Amino acid sequence: MFKLYLALALLHILHCNGEICQRSKQPLEMIVLYESLCPDSKNYINNFWPVYRKYHQCINLTLVPYGKASPSSSAPFGHTCQHGDSECWGNRMQDCAIHSNLNQFDQMKFLKCQMKDFQLTVKKNFTCARALNIEDHVERCMRPSGRGNQLQTQSSIITNRYSFSEIPAIVYDGVFSVNLQRSSRMKVSQTLCNIMVKKNLLLPDDC
Ligand SMILES: *[C@@H]1O[C@H](CO)[C@@H](O)[C@H](O)[C@H]1NC(C)=O
Ligand SMILES: *[C@@H]1O[C@H](CO)[C@@H](O)[C@H](O)[C@H]1NC(C)=O
Repeated sequence: MFKLYLALALLHILHCNGEICQRSKQPLEMIVLYESLCPDSKNYINNFWPVYRKYHQCINLTLVPYGKASPSSSAPFGHTCQHGDSECWGNRMQDCAIHSNLNQFDQMKFLKCQMKDFQLTVKKNFTCARALNIEDHVERCMRPSGRGNQLQTQSSIITNRYSFSEIPAIVYDGVFSVNLQRSSRMKVSQTLCNIMVKKNLLLPDDC
């Protein structure tokens, strides 16, 4: 009997550490479409971070800072943005950071830092990039000759594959569902957990 308890306890620990996810060959494919100066995006990133930290081994995460921006040949950097030029700068900057050498976990770490305070973006403050040792990369990428504009064009293409009306929009396994959108944002942990249980990445008890 004791051995059974021990085995169950051990199993539980393994699940809590996300090891069950590592054994699965099919992580949850998750795309977050967001904007650098959007209050709802800020809230989402803030709420998603602790959940992601717990389940990151189950998730293949793609962060796409573009949202309701659109390409524009007359705009300074080729795009106009919902919350103005500062947001365009922020989207470009975050695309550069996301496409530096950071792994997905550190990309989220950067984003959690950068989205915490909009003043960081409005004042073009590189504190978060510096903290992750990507300041030089991001600065080079942001120059007119850098990759920043090209990354934003790529982000606009990814974003325009989905028909959403609100940002942030969360895409699971390539599908954007309006029905999931509300709970995705209001109950971040519960919604993700339910989806991962359905995919056998987690046990029902984990939710
Ligand atoms: C994660 O997603 C990217 C882009 O969609 C893909 O190229 C990559 O193979 C995926 N990685 C895993 C481990 O599934
Ligand atoms: C950048 O932001 C950090 C953290 O909020 C702050 O301590 C620092 O003074 C800011 N730097 C500039 C140049 O504003």
